[in-house]
Amino acid sequence: MNLYCYDLLILLIAATEPALASPFSSLARFWPRFSAQSLATNSTTTNSTTPSAFIWLPQDEYSGKTFFDRFEFYTGPDPTRGTVNYVNSSVAFNNSLAYFEAANNTVVMKGDDTTWLPEGQNRSSVRISSIAQYNTGLFILDLNQAPWGCGVWPAFWTVGGGQWPYTGEIDIIEGVHDNEHNQVTWHTGPGCTLSLESNYTGSVVTDNKGVPNLDCDGNLNGNAGCGITEWSKASYGPFFAASGGGVFAMKWDETGIAVWSFYRSAIPGDITKGDPNPANWGTPVASLAPATCDPIAFFVNHSIIFDITFCGDWAGNSYATSGCPGSCSTRLMDPSNFVNASWSINSLKVYKKQIINGRISAALAIEPNWTILGAIVLSLVLGY
Ligand SMILES: *[C@@H]1O[C@H](CO)[C@@H](O)[C@H](O)[C@H]1NC(C)=O
Ligand SMILES: *[C@@H]1O[C@H](CO)[C@@H](O)[C@H](O)[C@H]1NC(C)=O
Ligand SMILES: *[C@@H]1O[C@H](CO)[C@@H](O)[C@H](O)[C@H]1NC(C)=O
Ligand SMILES: *[C@@H]1O[C@H](CO)[C@@H](O)[C@H](O)[C@H]1NC(C)=O
Ligand SMILES: *[C@@H]1O[C@H](CO)[C@@H](O)[C@H](O)[C@H]1NC(C)=O
Ligand SMILES: *[C@@H]1O[C@H](CO)[C@@H](O)[C@H](O)[C@H]1NC(C)=O
Ligand SMILES: *[C@@H]1O[C@H](CO)[C@@H](O)[C@H](O)[C@H]1NC(C)=O
Ligand SMILES: *[C@@H]1O[C@H](CO)[C@@H](O)[C@H](O)[C@H]1NC(C)=O
Ligand SMILES: *[C@@H]1O[C@H](CO)[C@@H](O)[C@H](O)[C@H]1NC(C)=O
Ligand SMILES: *[C@@H]1O[C@H](CO)[C@@H](O)[C@H](O)[C@H]1NC(C)=O
Repeated sequence: MNLYCYDLLILLIAATEPALASPFSSLARFWPRFSAQSLATNSTTTNSTTPSAFIWLPQDEYSGKTFFDRFEFYTGPDPTRGTVNYVNSSVAFNNSLAYFEAANNTVVMKGDDTTWLPEGQNRSSVRISSIAQYNTGLFILDLNQAPWGCGVWPAFWTVGGGQWPYTGEIDIIEGVHDNEHNQVTWHTGPGCTLSLESNYTGSVVTDNKGVPNLDCDGNLNGNAGCGITEWSKASYGPFFAASGGGVFAMKWDETGIAVWSFYRSAIPGDITKGDPNPANWGTPVASLAPATCDPIAFFVNHSIIFDITFCGDWAGNSYATSGCPGSCSTRLMDPSNFVNASWSINSLKVYKKQIINGRISAALAIEPNWTILGAIVLSLVLGY
């Protein structure tokens, strides 16, 4: 049996049994994608003569009261030299620096905004790291706000196991102070570069002479990596929070690494339905093309990280020119300066690219992978 037959069969059943038709709408979700994404695989990176269809299947979901179950709390010194004290899970939960808010099903992580500190003291905060490690995937974060404020420096990122930067780092959300533009950054071993010709809507971060910094080698330029700043003034900070946040998606596969961001009012329906299809999302805000950076070789065994630090390499070194009052170290003393230094998260979902092996003939006959077909049938039975 091929999928074409299968589809006809479903249509036939749907036509003859209208009462049964609604569960089959989920096949309609899958079916157009077999065609759309099989064309998308006709790319620079696969030189296979038999293009494969694929779908993004749910792999892991982090949300609700179980959100923290598969994260570890990091308690070491901040490698970016922030004036921060990363607390363990007991202290974080006890002191409400990490919690689940049942009222609106959100997960909150925050810097300490209740304790006065003498100048120079580390402010308590959290940094968590997923136990699961990933090699490629589609990572979709739905959040209401990212931490912001003078002296604050949060990030939502992934980083490879082993020796940094040789297994790569992908910074998906990162900003400091009251900045308005999110910055996406890659840090890798030598040999990976950003291309000016690639398709993305953001601007390449320049060095201090105004030259675009295309080299992603994390050993160079004070570990800066290669970055792209989003054009949107509501992609980080006060306006992002004021507009109710939104969704960030990072796709990492053999066709490259790309990041999209969507305002809450413009989240694509396929994401909301849990059936994401990046081919429908238009040009990403940032992307790293496979022609200039092998997305498989430079990025290995990635954990997902959320953190909030203060001052340090970025927020501290840029403080004097940020328009923020006083100095970063005096800013850190008053807890009321950190009321907005919190993550508010609805969900983090990870999808796995599932290649459906086989040939695609003119008749669109696909040799099915029965495991996948089984999953589809199961999803039909369960009605989603
Ligand atoms: C697939 O790639 C070939 C060779 O690069 C090209 O001629 C053709 O137009 C591509 N097809 C699609 C649908 O992109
Ligand atoms: C793709 O092309 C490269 C270089 O021409 C070759 O080394 C590799 O084996 C090819 N891969 C496949 C899957 O055909
Ligand atoms: C702040 O934290 C760093 C890293 O853990 C540590 O080396 C330093 O002694 C701490 N500072 C104070 C004042 O406790
Ligand atoms: C967590 O940290 C606190 C304060 O440093 C310490 O007293 C406690 O033993 C730690 N708990 C665990 C489980 O490590
Ligand atoms: C737990 O929270 C209480 C109230 O905030 C605080 O007084 C106490 O020191 C905390 N204990 C730990 C181990 O953090
Ligand atoms: C969730 O509910 C709490 C308590 O009612 C409220 O303080 C918080 O602002 C709400 N968060 C969101 C994102 O609506
Ligand atoms: C990635 O993880 C696998 C499984 O734990 C391990 O065998 C491999 O050595 C790791 N690769 C790197 C580059 O650390
Ligand atoms: C950018 O997108 C355009 C339109 O989709 C396409 O024609 C072009 O080849 C793309 N360029 C690169 C470098 O991917
Ligand atoms: C926190 O956010 C509110 C709402 O945008 C703003 O009025 C306030 O000034 C912010 N406070 C700090 C310390 O950033
Ligand atoms: C079918 O998909 C399953 C699940 O990902 C995979 O383990 C298996 O290798 C695939 N089978 C074939 C024949 O590709």
